[in-house]
Amino acid sequence: MAVIYSALKSALFALEPERAHQLALEALRTAGRFGAGRPLGTPVELMGLRFPNRVGLAAGFDKNGVDGIGRLGFGFIEIGTVTPNAQSGQPRPRLFRLPAKGALVNRLGFPNDGARVVAQRLRRHRYRGIVGVNIGKNASTPIERAIDDYVSCLRTLHGVADYIAVNISSPNTSALRDLHESQRLEPLLEALLMERNQLLQGTTKRLPLLLKVSPDLDPLALKSVAESVRRCHLDGLIATNTTVNRIQLV
Ligand SMILES: Cc1cc2nc3c(=O)[nH]c(=O)nc-3n(C[C@H](O)[C@H](O)[C@H](O)COP(=O)(O)O)c2cc1C
Repeated sequence: MAVIYSALKSALFALEPERAHQLALEALRTAGRFGAGRPLGTPVELMGLRFPNRVGLAAGFDKNGVDGIGRLGFGFIEIGTVTPNAQSGQPRPRLFRLPAKGALVNRLGFPNDGARVVAQRLRRHRYRGIVGVNIGKNASTPIERAIDDYVSCLRTLHGVADYIAVNISSPNTSALRDLHESQRLEPLLEALLMERNQLLQGTTKRLPLLLKVSPDLDPLALKSVAESVRRCHLDGLIATNTTVNRIQLV
């Protein structure tokens, strides 16, 4: 297995990083047509959801669906970030390998097919683990109107998600991280919680809302985010998104 991995890695590393990633995704999708795969391991109950095991995949690997990666046995897969409208993201090249550090620099900027298309795709998926959908705002939406984008994503995607991750922490969308400030964060969380509660009224579905935070907050900002999350009674936090701090890599 180690030999196959090493040969495959050399071949893929000969390609431009994003092309290699797309090929891997296409290969997994093709394999996915021959069966959905089954998450293995010991189930765990969290936030009213039953995860088939504790190992999951963070957002960004597949921004548009679970077919393919669903075969690999993950207990949960978080797809996205999904925005209301499809967008192409930052200009290429926007993914860079740092092989000596075993690291990757990501400047993708949320390329995705848009909430409606992703929702249609997720309606047909065969993956048997937990599906999280990570939502964000379009690059063209001013930060003052960000709430509209998040609420729109929640409306479109609530029926196909087991939990929603509210992404305010990607470094590649201008001003997105300003949403950590309590005067912006609390109205956003309140709007999403109110919308979620209305959407689920009369159903038995639970749809935990989780806030995905930046790893680059100073202690004061971190305290402020924690207080906002508690005040709004959010279901949980996802720690953390990509850092913009390169100190570890030098
Ligand atoms: C190529 C790439 C794309 C990513 N895209 C997203 C994204 O669209 N939304 C998001 O919330 N996080 C995204 N992330 C961040 C990851 O989900 C994760 O939070 C981050 O890599 C930190 O986890 P790690 O220390 O295990 O790498 C991306 C990361 C990488 C490397």
